[in-house]
Amino acid sequence: MCGIVGYVGNKSAKEILLEGLLKLEYRGYDSAGFAVINGKNIECLKCKGRVKNLKEDKKIGSVIGNLGIAHTRWATHGEPSTRNSHPHLDNEGKIAVVHNGIIENYVELKNFLLERGYAFLSDTDTEVIPNLIDYYYKLNGNENFLKAVKQATDELVGSYALEIISTHNLGEIIITRKDSPLVIGKGVGENYICSDVPAVLSYTNVFYYLGEREFAVITKNDIKFYNNNLESIKKEEKIVDWENSAADKGNFEDYMLKEIFEQPRKVEDTFNIENLKSLDLPKEYLNDLNKIVIVACGTAKNAGTVAKNVFENLCRIETLVEVASEFRYRNPIIDNKTLAIFISQSGETADTIAALKLAKSKGAKTLAVTNVKGSSITREADYSVYTLAGPEIAVASTKAYTSQIALLTLLAIDFAEKLNRVDSKIIEELRAELPNIGSKINFILENKELYHNIAKDIIENRDVFFIGRGIDYAVAEEGALKLKEISYIHAESYSSGELKHGPIALIEKGVPVIGIITDEDLVEKSVSNMQEVISRGAKSIVVTNQEIESDNFDYIINIPKINKLLSPILSVIPLQLISYYAAKEKSLDVDKPRNLAKSVTVE
Ligand code: AGP
Ligand code: GLU
Repeated sequence: MCGIVGYVGNKSAKEILLEGLLKLEYRGYDSAGFAVINGKNIECLKCKGRVKNLKEDKKIGSVIGNLGIAHTRWATHGEPSTRNSHPHLDNEGKIAVVHNGIIENYVELKNFLLERGYAFLSDTDTEVIPNLIDYYYKLNGNENFLKAVKQATDELVGSYALEIISTHNLGEIIITRKDSPLVIGKGVGENYICSDVPAVLSYTNVFYYLGEREFAVITKNDIKFYNNNLESIKKEEKIVDWENSAADKGNFEDYMLKEIFEQPRKVEDTFNIENLKSLDLPKEYLNDLNKIVIVACGTAKNAGTVAKNVFENLCRIETLVEVASEFRYRNPIIDNKTLAIFISQSGETADTIAALKLAKSKGAKTLAVTNVKGSSITREADYSVYTLAGPEIAVASTKAYTSQIALLTLLAIDFAEKLNRVDSKIIEELRAELPNIGSKINFILENKELYHNIAKDIIENRDVFFIGRGIDYAVAEEGALKLKEISYIHAESYSSGELKHGPIALIEKGVPVIGIITDEDLVEKSVSNMQEVISRGAKSIVVTNQEIESDNFDYIINIPKINKLLSPILSVIPLQLISYYAAKEKSLDVDKPRNLAKSVTVE
């Protein structure tokens, strides 16, 4: 979950490492640190908390060098503290390692090393790695450092992305990975390493993606790649077409706000993509399918719930939505007549990748829907399609969600045209709506003040409920997730009709209930459900594009009319902004909510 940066070249490594860490802080932010090679020594600086603490550390002036590695941590083993921050060194201070992931057998390895006289200074799982490398290096007669790295990583069970520097191989950074991403940015007379391209996008757009259990030895003028047997391999370079400025905040106060306001363009860009044509899923294959299963986590899963409605409506194929962490452990019933779709903004979510591998092993065709080219999920899936949201930095996902819905809707339309199971007029009407969607989102964005007022009115509440029916329920799920993750207000979503089967007991005077009502066939029923909570004292907030008597509600948010299947792309926008303003009113760090990290690369 952490951010990793590395640099080797002629410039001062420290500046590049710190700038990269700041750009990657969204991946983990409980402590940070870096190490550089200064002459023949390793110098290391670490601190608890944010990267800015590192920058402000008095000792920073003395940490000088042109080669270094850096880390911003999301603790898994050992509390966030300076002592537990990375890099971790071997006992002699000659090998420094930063690590993303979890070493599951670290206790066993630690005991092995303790018995051989090694001491441990931190509570992390990571600290076994530099010492194990040292152990093997000495066993090899102080020769062949790369081989020692390989021998040590062969012992590791779990997941890792590692950067390793040492006084035994001055001028080189060694990297390797398993189930956790690492990329190399190629420069001229300098090279970069990072866990996520935005970290170094201002220096290069030429990248190499390191494969599972591969190694790279990086110097300022060269990058050598090896497979797990340490045989030399070639790698293709990839050009990343994200604009450098895409990873900056621009004139916005926070990344989240910027990303919310980017949605008109990003959704339109995604709707305009042509790459679906490359999906070689013929009519006969689709006709034979007995189900689609969509697997994802968090917001991506919520986009999947929207897509379920779209696939079932347009393709008449049963579509199930599954949480990846559950799916992977429950022996799901799937076979070669199942199309398994995996949605992941980052393309690095550990549970989603594991679920994909499982579906593949059971014979299903696998399709990844992701925002990051070259991400791990795309290397595993049979097919990949990409949202064009650009880098999403805020931990709370917004533009990725609406772009995922756009892309999945395009997919459903593509399948529906091949399957021909519903009246072609339905598809034509849907297609006709696509060009106007950006201006409709813009219209909703203009109503900021209303969302801000609603936010002010709910921040003192302990609980907020989001309700909806059908596709509106799918949006209610996302509204509740957004509110709880950034404002820390407890929020739940319920199908409106389910309220009276229990949750209505929680409604009392002043409890906010946000109802989403965009399905013309269900308006009366949804309005009645709102009336039921109003009768029990709820503060009522309605997001709608239907003609509804507004006097009944405390707040009504009118959004433009649109085909029901596309309505989530519009109705979610006020909910994103209400959450945003609620967090701002509570003076919280909107982009980096507590306990979270952008990509969840551990189970
Ligand atoms: C979204 O706001 C969340 N922070 C989180 O639920 C996220 O959507 C989830 O972790 C999945 O991430 P992915 O799309 O990168 O796989
Ligand atoms: N497991 C390591 C630790 O707790 C790495 C965590 C991370 O990926 O940031 O220190």
